[in-house]
Amino acid sequence: MDSYITASAIKNLREKKGITQLQLAEQIGVSDKTVSKWETAKGLPDISLIEPLAKALGVSVMELMSGEYIVNRNISCNMLRSKFYMCPVCGNIIHSSGESLVSCCGITLPPLEAEECDADHAVTVEAVEDEHFITVYHPMEKDHFITFIAYVTGDRCQFVKLYPEGNAQTRLSLRGRGHLYICCNRHGLMKCKL
Ligand SMILES: [Fe+2]
Repeated sequence: MDSYITASAIKNLREKKGITQLQLAEQIGVSDKTVSKWETAKGLPDISLIEPLAKALGVSVMELMSGEYIVNRNISCNMLRSKFYMCPVCGNIIHSSGESLVSCCGITLPPLEAEECDADHAVTVEAVEDEHFITVYHPMEKDHFITFIAYVTGDRCQFVKLYPEGNAQTRLSLRGRGHLYICCNRHGLMKCKL
């Protein structure tokens, strides 16, 4: 049976924190035998203990459930380190300026990995007044379409949502060096150098 927390998550986070089973047990008011059971998959912490357990391990509840520390070192917030996340259940698209732990519809979402644009997702850029007209040569059908276009520079992210039956086109201000991202609902995120 799938569980909301795994034995290895508790063990790994406790070891990273550098505390013993007894020290952890004392902090949350259980015995060290109980902690040992959790770490050997012979028992699960009661749901009411999840928050105190996360606190004792120095992580968020989400980190405890995923078993991983999320440390965003993007302190200066360089937007070029942007990550995009997409929920496979509801289609929600989330942008983060760096590493983060993102969850939607009860699922922890991995960041979308950007491939280089291929011939089936070719992009052209045409200067129009003080903006640029971006065209992606790609179908815009219900089951296969470009879901968003984004242009990310060091200090900003321009994001345009697209919809099936619409045009795979938009106008963007391309000031500053950056990355143009396009996301196909079937083929994933792609990145182009302009
Ligand atoms: Fe595609």
